[in-house]
Amino acid sequence: MKKRVTKIGVLTSGGDAPGMNACIRAVVRTGIYHGMDVFGIMRGYTGMVENDIFKMESRSVANIIQRGGTVLKTSRCKDFFTPEGRKKAYENLTGLGINGLVIIGGDGSFRGAQTFSNEYDIPCIGLPGTIDKDIAGTDFTIGFDTAVNTAVEAIDKIRDTADAHDRLFIIEVMGRDAGYIALHSGISTGAENILIPERKTDIEEIIKQLAEKERRHKLVNLIVVAEGDEFGGADYVAKIIKERLPMQEVRVCILGHIQRGGSPSCFDRLIASRMGYSAVECFMEGRYNVFVGMVNNRMHFTPLNEAVKKKQRISEEWMKIVKILAS
Ligand code: F6P
Repeated sequence: MKKRVTKIGVLTSGGDAPGMNACIRAVVRTGIYHGMDVFGIMRGYTGMVENDIFKMESRSVANIIQRGGTVLKTSRCKDFFTPEGRKKAYENLTGLGINGLVIIGGDGSFRGAQTFSNEYDIPCIGLPGTIDKDIAGTDFTIGFDTAVNTAVEAIDKIRDTADAHDRLFIIEVMGRDAGYIALHSGISTGAENILIPERKTDIEEIIKQLAEKERRHKLVNLIVVAEGDEFGGADYVAKIIKERLPMQEVRVCILGHIQRGGSPSCFDRLIASRMGYSAVECFMEGRYNVFVGMVNNRMHFTPLNEAVKKKQRISEEWMKIVKILAS
């Protein structure tokens, strides 16, 4: 018989993502609705190891649904990846009677949760909170929609300047290992080329296209580059193009961390609320050690052990769309 979960801890881990607060709010309020005690764990796994944990009430999450960042703060905790760190964390949790954990974070955070749940008898539920959308088993992650919209707004503005000056702009968006922000924002702003970590780039082909456009006096071009593309970001791509096409007026714009902040979009608030609610329902139903995603607008549950092994795959059709629409 599975032990009933009565006291839950909630934490946010890894890079912050808009909508994390909406998700915390949903976990806290659904937990309280079911008569559970809910504890906030500060700075991700760091708070678990250092016993920085406090009891939350319904009012603790008032007026946060619209705020970016995370009221619980976040970190990437190295200690938790050692057996000693996890032992300390377990002792701190059991000291407070916490017998269930909700982890809002990316794949690194789920890896921590998976190891912890394999070693100790505290069930974990993972919720995808990352702007990168690089987790398999869910169509969307909390924060992705807001981040992409931030990028689109910025790129639209850059296009005005590109157009006014007849320039080539190379815009770098976030995505160390994943190209989703680049792909979604690039397609949505009509970028001519999109460079992502998941695909090799034919730089010769890009130079050929640009040279041909130069010949036709089409000098306004946008190239969107994910920071983790094979060249290591926009600066290097710009350097190659400048060397090969000295007539091009090339400018680089690195969007950086503005993509992580800001008020979450309606979509992110909605999925964050549904996922947070669903995490607590998992405890109620005895569905333990899963990652809660959303597939075809329905909740989708993947065992944590499986979730950490899989990656989302970029479809070939999307790459084809980029090519056809940019021609
Ligand atoms: O949240 C994921 C991510 O946005 C990556 O795309 C990026 O490389 C990374 O965070 C940078 O995070 P930080 O500056 O916090 O180390």
